[in-house]
Amino acid sequence: MSGSLVVVGTGPGKAELMTPATLAALAKATDLVGYGPYLDRIPKTRPDQRRHRSDNRVELERARHALSLAAAGREVVVVSGGDPGVFAMAAAVFEAVETGDPGWRALDIRVEPGVTAMLAAAAEVGAPLGGDFCAISLSDNLKAWTTIERLLRAAAEADFVIALYNPASKARPHQLAQAFEHLRTIKSSKTPVLFVRAAGTPEAKVVTTTLAAADAAQADMRTLVIVGASTTRRIGRWVYTPRSEGAAS
Ligand SMILES: C[S@@+](CC[C@H](N)C(=O)[O-])C[C@H]1O[C@@H](n2cnc3c(N)ncnc32)[C@H](O)[C@@H]1O
Repeated sequence: MSGSLVVVGTGPGKAELMTPATLAALAKATDLVGYGPYLDRIPKTRPDQRRHRSDNRVELERARHALSLAAAGREVVVVSGGDPGVFAMAAAVFEAVETGDPGWRALDIRVEPGVTAMLAAAAEVGAPLGGDFCAISLSDNLKAWTTIERLLRAAAEADFVIALYNPASKARPHQLAQAFEHLRTIKSSKTPVLFVRAAGTPEAKVVTTTLAAADAAQADMRTLVIVGASTTRRIGRWVYTPRSEGAAS
């Protein structure tokens, strides 16, 4: 008999932001598959549950391993951070299904939504995503930097609020600074910029600044950067984007 595969997200980090549906899937699983630090967020409640830890950046390999386990009859949960469909494992699972064993297409595969970093970061500062927005990953592991530059310029021209995932890593220290340079050529220098580190956790830290003053060194791998639209504004310690364009500042 074939098993099942559910892809879940742990949310941004705080246990309360894991959904009840995710907790139910985790409780039922015989096998958990994921990047080590994400598996560490899951309390060990069942001694018979197997944990398959893997390193970062081996998503496709991890997805294939999870699919093989499900095909062998196991009840598998693949664990991502945040939401599993946002720059995460759900897409890797479907990439593996598309290119892998045709039998995997008949498996019982499900995705449970989670709280993505962008939503947790927005909630820390008010309502910066109150108008139209988009999300861009600055990681060039899976796409060319020239593609990212094109996306940044298009998003700025369209006046979206822009959520930047993966803004920096040790291997890519200069890209966020370059991204700000592109945005400065199109957006007002007064545009609010937010650096939200460890959003949705007790260690959350927010830096609110402007595009002119934004310092890329403020960001690390646990930071989500939000660049406002022309209507995004500060009221005291809050930042929000009004719902109507008539409210332009
Ligand atoms: C590979 S992406 C995974 C995103 C994840 N699937 C999600 O939905 O949040 C990792 C990036 O998400 C952002 N991120 C994840 N958790 C975060 C948090 N608690 N606070 C701020 N940013 C976070 C950071 O930009 C980080 O580099």
